[in-house]
Amino acid sequence: MESTAALTGSVPLLGAVGALSRSPGERAVAVGIRGVSKHFGAGDQLVYALRGVDWEVYAGQMSMIIGPSGCGKTTLLSVIAGILNADAGVVELFGADVTRMSDRRKTVFRARNIGFVFQQYNLLPALTAAENAAIPLVIAGASKVRAVEKARAVLTTLGMGKKTESLPNQLSGGQQQRVAIARALVHEPRLLVCDEPTAALDHETGLNVMELLRDAAVRPGRAVVVVTHDNRVFHFGERIARMDDGRIVEVIEQHGDPRKNLPASH
Ligand SMILES: Nc1ncnc2c1ncn2[C@@H]1O[C@H](COP(=O)(O)OP(=O)(O)O)[C@@H](O)[C@H]1O
Ligand SMILES: [Mg+2]
Repeated sequence: MESTAALTGSVPLLGAVGALSRSPGERAVAVGIRGVSKHFGAGDQLVYALRGVDWEVYAGQMSMIIGPSGCGKTTLLSVIAGILNADAGVVELFGADVTRMSDRRKTVFRARNIGFVFQQYNLLPALTAAENAAIPLVIAGASKVRAVEKARAVLTTLGMGKKTESLPNQLSGGQQQRVAIARALVHEPRLLVCDEPTAALDHETGLNVMELLRDAAVRPGRAVVVVTHDNRVFHFGERIARMDDGRIVEVIEQHGDPRKNLPASH
């Protein structure tokens, strides 16, 4: 298989991505957030979605953001991923301060370094599974033939080797989410962000998708952040930020028996 670096060679390298800082436990800090706030609207409609959030996400593990609907999870993930600009605060991804990047530079940074998985799979209906999964590489400048070849290989590692030529409407919800995960991983991003990835799936399929994310996405050089309010999948989180009303109110580390120390419900 060809390396992604070769396939994405047309995307300019970003010199500002510095060495990873390390925590006392020698885990690399992938995402560092300090004092991040974000509001929406004005006057009667004013909502403080984030009220000064500090957090760290480490490479090589699955981090999770949990909390009730409306507490700010999607907003925090969007700020981390550079989809939304924070009002104040600093967001560093792999040592690069994204809050100070121009929009254009941020777009390139995002395309190269981040993969996205959402509740809605957002697959293009006229494209095959492999063509859908190949999109980030094509956007990055790879030829379609090489991009689809790489996408087929990634789909195969996700148990979708026999479905690469299927159209989305020929696939189950769980299979479509696998295609979306392949699309998110095809350019080998250093950060994978997933917003409610199991919300449209039944319990068993949701667990399968979480196992897939844990086994296929978590790598020593990659951080995975999953937003969920589905308490049936909390045990996959190795580092859990519990949010309430725009703040992280608790950080739970789960080692050993992952079901210990979990909140009974969200
Ligand atoms: N684009 C927006 N315009 C106005 N209000 C928004 C917007 N996005 C989110 N909000 C509000 O910000 C708060 C946090 O939303 P969100 O981050 O989506 O929460 P969660 O993902 O935890 O359900 C909610 O009160 C929500 O209504
Ligand atoms: Mg949300």
